[in-house]
Amino acid sequence: MNITKICCIGAGYVGGPTMAVIAQKCPHIEVTVVDLNEERISRWNDEDINNIPIYEPGLGEIVASSRGRNLFFSTDVEKAIHEAQIIFISVNTPTKTYGSGKGMAADLKYIELCARQIARIAKDDKIVVEKSTLPVRTAEAIKSILDHTGNGVQFQILSNPEFLAEGTAVQDLISPDRVLIGGDNQTAEGRDAINVLVDIYSNWVAKDRILTTNIWSSELSKLTANAFLAQRVSSINAMSELCEKTGADVNEVAKAIGMDSRIGPKFLKASVGFGGSCFQKDILNLVYIAKSFGLHQVANYWEQVIIMNDHQKRRFANNIVQTLYNTVADKKIAFLGWAFKKDTNDTRESSAIYIANDLINEQAKIAVFDPKVLETQVYSDLDYLETRSAEKNKKNVTTYETAYEACKGAHAIAILTEWDEFTAYDWQHIYDNMQKPAFIFDGRNLMNGEMLKKIGFIYQAIGS
Ligand code: UDX
Ligand code: UDX
Repeated sequence: MNITKICCIGAGYVGGPTMAVIAQKCPHIEVTVVDLNEERISRWNDEDINNIPIYEPGLGEIVASSRGRNLFFSTDVEKAIHEAQIIFISVNTPTKTYGSGKGMAADLKYIELCARQIARIAKDDKIVVEKSTLPVRTAEAIKSILDHTGNGVQFQILSNPEFLAEGTAVQDLISPDRVLIGGDNQTAEGRDAINVLVDIYSNWVAKDRILTTNIWSSELSKLTANAFLAQRVSSINAMSELCEKTGADVNEVAKAIGMDSRIGPKFLKASVGFGGSCFQKDILNLVYIAKSFGLHQVANYWEQVIIMNDHQKRRFANNIVQTLYNTVADKKIAFLGWAFKKDTNDTRESSAIYIANDLINEQAKIAVFDPKVLETQVYSDLDYLETRSAEKNKKNVTTYETAYEACKGAHAIAILTEWDEFTAYDWQHIYDNMQKPAFIFDGRNLMNGEMLKKIGFIYQAIGS
């Protein structure tokens, strides 16, 4: 199959950057990214490259280099599907909020809608690539829909999970640790389809980093990778609480164990809890799959990673209340950071949301500053929890244009995202404008505690 046109359904955090990099690395292929969300598409097409809807270091330049040449963003889903030989599905698969598997299973309604749409439109053979993280055996469902509702054309389904992390997406895409492609390796047609995708990645990724497997291994590997990464964070966070009680310092412990080459240094940073669109969703998914096969021990084992993470967030909020003399009612508490980690404007499952929610329950006034997150996002994150009315959230939370304004008159500061710029502030100035005693709760172990203590802050970091 000679590939001249690729389409991707879903112009989000995964679809957008992935397609931008494919377009840049494969100038001979026309790449079209489509999305139902008109506003999102028009922002991807904005003349001012700073207005594209996703903030990722380096992404603007990559998009600018190919947009209008062989990279297009459009709402014309049908045309893009019709013309492409390969269709990536990169729509979101949130945790179900209703019905059976509520709060645990992945909601596959968007995936199914995409499959039906592809089946209806396709007039020639297509390769359909699952890019979204999906529960094991989803490919089977997609295949069944395509084969039973299609126009008699041939579909090959591949699983090509995305391992990019937000904030480093461009780098992760340009030099990935590995690319994983799962397909029907038992048939000649399946192997051909796998090779088509291998050839595309080979334009910039070394062959020995492109791994091919059967489709179920590929789907399960993605869930497994995220579960293992999240487990490391929960493991070190569990130790952080013990460190606080014993006088050990979690940073020192992390360094000491990270130098063991069997353990390695990454993902051992104690924090206020992991967030992001993937970890919790994928583990819940794993738990749900295990339960549905009656594997209760397996399910409980992985569920504990989430329980630990919830505990870490709650513990952080409780500690703020207790330290501020058991009451935060009407006290201004400044939040530095709202995104789930630095270098992204994504806030999905960010710990900040849950900590704000707990503190608002205690009638605190939350003052938020994040360099990249918009005010509307902060409110919609809180409203989504449905803990209280939108009016009440508005009344208790204010966002600010600068950290200095957010901290002015505050009783305490909570550092919730590890943005680099926070360390460069004039902390003496911030201190001078706060209520005394002035507290800092460093949920990211980001700050120089000794320097802050010298200024006069009462400083507490996770795990020390
Ligand atoms: C991705 C993956 O798809 C998800 O499975 C993974 O776990 C996290 O990363 P992401 O790109 O981050 O999701 O999601 P999002 O930024 O929400 O983008 C999805 C896009 O798909 C949205 O812009 C949405 O409008 C679009 N969409 C959704 C469609 O175009 N059609 C649909 O039917 C549903
Ligand atoms: C993750 C996976 O890393 C990526 O491979 C997958 O495809 C999607 O999910 P992402 O959610 O973008 O990526 O961010 P990641 O860097 O993994 O961080 C997740 C959360 O864990 C963040 O809230 C981060 O702050 C937290 N974390 C990470 C820690 O608290 N400590 C650490 O040591 C590492």
